[in-house]
Amino acid sequence: MKIEFYKHNISQADIANAVEVMNSLFLTTGETVEEFERRFSQYLGLKYTVGVTSCTAALHLSLLAYGIGPGDEVITTPMTFIATANAVLYAGAKPVFVDVEPETGNINADLIEDAATSRTKAILPVHLYGQMCDMRKIREIADKHHLTVIEDAAHAIEASRDGIRPGQLSDAACFSFYATKNITSGEGGAISTNSEEIAEKLKKLRLHGMSKGAAERYFRRYEHWDMEMLGWKYNMNNIQAALLLSQLGRIEQNWQRREEICRMYEDAFRSNAHISLPLVLPGSKSARHLFTVQVRPEKRDKVLWQLQERGIGVAVNFRAIHLLTFYRQTFGYERGMYPIAEKIGDSTITLPLYPKLTDEEVRYVIQTVKEVTAEYAQD
Ligand SMILES: Cc1ncc(COP(=O)(O)O)c(C=O)c1O
Repeated sequence: MKIEFYKHNISQADIANAVEVMNSLFLTTGETVEEFERRFSQYLGLKYTVGVTSCTAALHLSLLAYGIGPGDEVITTPMTFIATANAVLYAGAKPVFVDVEPETGNINADLIEDAATSRTKAILPVHLYGQMCDMRKIREIADKHHLTVIEDAAHAIEASRDGIRPGQLSDAACFSFYATKNITSGEGGAISTNSEEIAEKLKKLRLHGMSKGAAERYFRRYEHWDMEMLGWKYNMNNIQAALLLSQLGRIEQNWQRREEICRMYEDAFRSNAHISLPLVLPGSKSARHLFTVQVRPEKRDKVLWQLQERGIGVAVNFRAIHLLTFYRQTFGYERGMYPIAEKIGDSTITLPLYPKLTDEEVRYVIQTVKEVTAEYAQD
């Protein structure tokens, strides 16, 4: 059996929606992007969304929009994709890591205050695998120290925790529509916020700092544009927005199927002596973006390769960022500095999770993972 790590769920109707845009006059940022931004904001219960080309761009621009730059520090987690910390570097600021909770892999909010200095300007929590961080606690700390909170919600579109959803307690939340995300346009991203001022600024920052976009210039009597600030070229286009818009209508239905699959995995692995699972906390709705298991660290790569050999697509999300060569060399990080993140990074394996996965395929993954981990548990 061959089980892909990921299969997207783009339907013929989604494709038809994109084709309609391609048969129309206007391909770049225009009405379809605006419609997506409205619908995405509605889905989240937030006021504004700004569509961009990736979550990396979303993070970068959010930091800039809140004035974070050289000399500033941003507290974040080493247990994430490098995009999170790299975006801080793009803004000219310094990422400062705080270790994570062993149960969830999310930033340990109790350690944040100890990492804060007079240079700290923001907290950048990441909702790992789809489960939200403790946003109430993070907001409280941020208010006490006058910090901005920007959420990396790349994994967490459908998530909530104790009634709180992404963007509701922060200053901005950043989303990814990368190829393996819960809704996708191949590449894409968005920032959602309740601040009108920040949304307006983000619209300029995503397009070179120009005062007017192409649609505004073309469809109305020509008016000269000005460049008001230094911006980037990160604008979402109408084709991406068309693909995303029609997937948004099925987002909960797709989540439901991933939830079912995760429960099958959890029921099968929960009492297995060779496997540990991250916990989904009571009161938390995980967006169920990635399903991970943890195995003996010294056997992790062997298990990974054996699963591949038996036809199962796997990944590692994530090895701790501070141990990657660039971060070690640039900031002098060493093993032992963030032990919980290191432990997760050394022992984690991500299994296939997407709505198109059949029950039979899930059962094959379960059986194979059980066999392989038992085999490597012996010496
Ligand atoms: C936690 C996290 N943040 C940010 C990103 C970056 O997203 P993008 O590829 O859309 O830039 C990813 C991508 O996978 C991610 O997993």
